[in-house]
Amino acid sequence: MAGTVTDPTAAGPTDATAPEWWRTAVIYQIYPRSFSDANGDGIGDLAGITRRLPALADLGIDAIWLSPFYPSPQRDAGYDVADYCGVDPLFGTLDDFDRMLSEAHARGIRVIVDLVPNHTSSAHPWFEAALAAGPGSVERARYIFRDGRGENGELPPNNWQSVFDGPAWTRVTEEDGQPGQWYLHLFDSSQPDLDWENPWVREQFQGILRFWLDRGVDGFRVDVAHGMIKAPGLPDYTPPAEAGSMGGGTATLEPGMSGEPEDAPPYWGQEGVHEIFREWRRVLDEYPGERILAAEAWVEPLAKVAKWVRPDEMHQSFNFPYLETPWQAKPLRQVIDESLAAFSSVGAPSTWVLSNHDVVRHGSRLAVTADNLQGHGLGPRSKGLPDPEVGLRRARAASALMLALPGSSYIYQGEELGLPEVIHLPDEARQDPTWFRSNGERYGRDGSRVPIPWEADAPSYGFGPGSASWLPQPEEWATFARDAEDGEPDSTLELYKLALRLRREHGLGAGTLHWLDGFGDDVLAFQNGDVTVVANTGEASVALPEGEVLLSSAPGTHRTLPGDTTVWLARR
Ligand code: GLC
Ligand code: CA
Repeated sequence: MAGTVTDPTAAGPTDATAPEWWRTAVIYQIYPRSFSDANGDGIGDLAGITRRLPALADLGIDAIWLSPFYPSPQRDAGYDVADYCGVDPLFGTLDDFDRMLSEAHARGIRVIVDLVPNHTSSAHPWFEAALAAGPGSVERARYIFRDGRGENGELPPNNWQSVFDGPAWTRVTEEDGQPGQWYLHLFDSSQPDLDWENPWVREQFQGILRFWLDRGVDGFRVDVAHGMIKAPGLPDYTPPAEAGSMGGGTATLEPGMSGEPEDAPPYWGQEGVHEIFREWRRVLDEYPGERILAAEAWVEPLAKVAKWVRPDEMHQSFNFPYLETPWQAKPLRQVIDESLAAFSSVGAPSTWVLSNHDVVRHGSRLAVTADNLQGHGLGPRSKGLPDPEVGLRRARAASALMLALPGSSYIYQGEELGLPEVIHLPDEARQDPTWFRSNGERYGRDGSRVPIPWEADAPSYGFGPGSASWLPQPEEWATFARDAEDGEPDSTLELYKLALRLRREHGLGAGTLHWLDGFGDDVLAFQNGDVTVVANTGEASVALPEGEVLLSSAPGTHRTLPGDTTVWLARR
């Protein structure tokens, strides 16, 4: 087959001095239902991904990570898995998966799949069997069933709240038609938590890992990798008052995700999770090639995040403290320093990320002017709505900064087009369980999940063959369409392409960062190899040092650097 020689997983001579691919990789997150729809039902699919691989190769990424495409009732957009070893007919078939995988490999693109081990769907046969088998059964012991408190068990077993709002427990009706036990769900009631203290559960997941490794995947992004073990006795816990925002100041996805083991919430960041990842690491190490585990671990501080990537555990952990840092030089420099120190202390690369399917896109987030709690999203009634021009300008500058940092970066589909959050989604279109469970108080995450535009003049902007799109696309999507930006030197797409090319040519991912001082309080400046990077987070222009401008986030930058702009200069 043509192109097989570039298969990154093919056996062949390896350069022992080259760093492993994932230490410097740019990994592109595909949210399958919103990426590309081949059959026109309004939901993106695996065949759609295969069709669009050339565009991703052209962008210059190293790997793709696919959010879940497994059989699922789609109550949480596929993060409610009913069968870990299959493909939901919505997205295609296992054959479609294999085709996508081999065509990606043929283009030198590695493929990471999402693994959702903290909970299954309530439609998973394991959970259905647990309901049917009744209290005290081995089937119930795979999940976290408990009797309720109160005289007749009418109160939930403890006071925990779901991440999506409302109580984290749901009471079941037993065979005899009477209200019975309660089961724990840290997320939606359709997502019962598994009991990871149960060896049977652990065994099943070893098999699931092998199923996908045998098919040839290059790794797993591990969902809720901070939540799989709960403190013994499931003690009550009241998180500290909500103390963060995304617009400014330090932020947390939700209160109480930080802290050392002693004061960590009884459901996040428990020490016991690490043993699970050590087991998984041993499984991955049995396979040829460099397969990876990447943790979604929403914990703080960075020193704690680094525990997930100790040498015998995972390879990467998402850097959410970086994502949560406002567009301000001082806190950015601090989080970059802390990241490099924390990850290198365990021999892991730092990762960097600005957007994903759970947060307000950084094209809007960086210009929000009022507090906006993580996970609350943006909608027509939100305070401090962003100016789209300021948002785009800052997003381009922030991306240019991120892509110059040593380590591995994640980009989320559509950010390379400069897409903002879709704020004006009609209420009746919203589908995030957060929206329903909070009775519309939190908009949730739909605004970052709208199907992306490929062609300015096509129905559904080329997302699919017709006009169908599971969330409505806004009018202004035409100007962000890939074909409108392709080849336009000042477009965000060309900025990303240039950044990825230069990053590779200058070895920035494997480089070392040296800060440069003397540019003022609003500026970050550093040397990485033979590239000088200067990012101005303030309003006033600053003079640039000597050197050819290799890249600028604002067109026409020469001797002075305007506000909200990042440049890369060739060192003289
Ligand atoms: C992770 C996913 C998110 C999902 C949740 C529950 O945070 O990224 O989309 O809703 O886990 O699986
Ligand atoms: Ca489809």
